[in-house]
Amino acid sequence: MLGRLNHVAIAVPDLEKAAKIYASVLGAKVSAPQVELAHGVRVVFVELPNAKIELMEPLGENSPIKTFLEKNPAGGMHHVCYEVADIMVVRDKLIAEGARVLGDGKPKTGAHGKPVLFLHPKDFCGTLIELEQA
Ligand code: CO
Repeated sequence: MLGRLNHVAIAVPDLEKAAKIYASVLGAKVSAPQVELAHGVRVVFVELPNAKIELMEPLGENSPIKTFLEKNPAGGMHHVCYEVADIMVVRDKLIAEGARVLGDGKPKTGAHGKPVLFLHPKDFCGTLIELEQA
C-alpha cells in the first residue's frame, strides 16, 4: 500500500537559519522559500537523492505547527510523508481498520499540488503521517 518516502518534515523556529544549516553546514541543495498560506507555513525543500526534507516555519497566528514549536522550541521532526497510488482507496481501507484520518477526512492539496491526508499519530507509533497521492 505504501510507496516511496516522499519527505520528512521538520518544524523550525527560523527558516532562514535552518536553510543555512542545511545548505552551508550539511552541503545540501535547498530550494527558495515558499509560502503555503493554506497550510499556515513557510517552507524550503532540501533535495536529497532519494527524498526531500521539508523545513517548515510557522506562518500566522493559527499555524498548525505553532503548538508543536512551543513544545519543541529548537524545532523537531514533525511528520513523514509516504506516497500512495490512490489516496481514496488507502483512506477507506485505513478507516475500515479503525485508523483516524485528521480533519474532515477529505484530501487537501499539499505543498506539491497533489492530494494529501494526515493520519493520527497515536494510531501510527507516535508519528504524524502524511499520505500523498503520487
Ligand atoms: Co508534508
